[in-house]
Amino acid sequence: MKVAIIGTGYVGLTTGVCLSWLGHEVTCLDTDSRKIATLKEGICPIYEPHLDKLMAQARARLQFSTEPALPIAGADVVFIAVGTPASKDGSPDLQYLRSAAETVGRHLDGNFTVVVNKSTVPIGSGNWVEALILESYQAHHGSRPEGRFAVASNPEFLREGAALHDSLYPDRIVVGADSTRALEVLYTLYRPLLEQSFQAPPFLPRPDGLGAAPLVATDLASAELIKYAANAFLALKISFINEIAVVAECVGADVQMVAKGIGLDSRIGTRFLQAGIGWGGSCFAKDTSALVTTAAEYGITMPIVEAAREINRRQRERVVEKLLGELKIIKGRTIGLLGLAFKPHTDDLRDAPALDIAEALISRGSRVRVHDPVAMERARQERADLDLVYCEQPERVAEHADAIVLVTDWPQYLSLDWRAMAGGMRVAREPLLVDGRNFLDATAMAEAGFRLVRVAG
Ligand code: UDX
Repeated sequence: MKVAIIGTGYVGLTTGVCLSWLGHEVTCLDTDSRKIATLKEGICPIYEPHLDKLMAQARARLQFSTEPALPIAGADVVFIAVGTPASKDGSPDLQYLRSAAETVGRHLDGNFTVVVNKSTVPIGSGNWVEALILESYQAHHGSRPEGRFAVASNPEFLREGAALHDSLYPDRIVVGADSTRALEVLYTLYRPLLEQSFQAPPFLPRPDGLGAAPLVATDLASAELIKYAANAFLALKISFINEIAVVAECVGADVQMVAKGIGLDSRIGTRFLQAGIGWGGSCFAKDTSALVTTAAEYGITMPIVEAAREINRRQRERVVEKLLGELKIIKGRTIGLLGLAFKPHTDDLRDAPALDIAEALISRGSRVRVHDPVAMERARQERADLDLVYCEQPERVAEHADAIVLVTDWPQYLSLDWRAMAGGMRVAREPLLVDGRNFLDATAMAEAGFRLVRVAG
């Protein structure tokens, strides 16, 4: 099938690469000409494991362009995968979505085209996008686009850092449309994923026992709400275990054992019960905020979702509180932060806890030394306002530091020379190590000479 994708962010690019790799003819569109030039050279503008390899393998069927006219006119399916960042009042900023819909209307031509909202959009956006396409089509063609297009919602559930794995081996595919024809087109598009009929790449083997992926075919509004409900539920699962962790700490229980003990109940499940600093990233904060805002438009409050957000905010403050509790004074101290990205295997700094923590420490007069395996360049560019000391080697965050905080659970941090790090800190006896992710082995850290304190439980 012929596919055009508007927006080459994480979702758009991953979708384009996967669909072309599966055999479709794909053009990825973006208004950012620098990004398109980079992609044309075969260079991946984001850090995402294996994306460059799959992109290289799919090259013959994958085009990049800033010119939407031909790719949209010839497409069976047009994906809209533009950003919907939160505006100041918490509601999503829809200017890019509007402009994408107008572009589609301007260039739609020829065969029946399914226009798919892949961006996380407010409930009701499917209808809004349809109206925008219609108006734009009429303005440019002087006639109504009778039967030329249908709008569908196809929310994305990929995790950054595991984007290709989640795209090739989805737990489910959700498509929502009020047109049966659109649902049929999307079924055909996704057939290789639904049937798992493709040969898995050697660097991304199919998980053992994975059979066909279930398809949830529904109406537009339900598909749109599924995305918000999924992210809100995952966010509150994390906040729930972080709330339990506070009680665990008070009563002397081990929150990790509690998580295991409840998670093995198949009704609860073990995943997303890792207590720590809490969630960050591009989705959870934005989507929970948008859900609360949408509900408010109908006069509904969402106390559970709001509590999850508040608990998550407090987890970041707890890091500073722990440091204050242990060091008493943090003005003039040096604190080393291990990890800047909001989670491992990505260089994404959106809503990254490390940046909030660094800001809070700097505002209290601390010097902050940081390391991240891939996100330092991005931090230098995006947060030039923060006076951070960047360390090329992770061990160097410990140099003359009063405390180290592990913020992001990058696997390579497990095998640092912790003994040498402890030796290089300002306090020679039992220097302070705050584990923000319940990630480090307490016995090993004690043997290395640290006093280990956890943010959660
Ligand atoms: C999330 C959703 O998982 C994905 O389905 C959606 O499409 C986009 O948002 P992502 O933001 O990439 O994906 O990362 P995810 O792996 O979900 O982690 C989000 C945050 O939660 C990270 O900061 C992570 O460190 C934190 N987290 C995750 C925890 O604190 N504890 C956990 O148990 C799991």
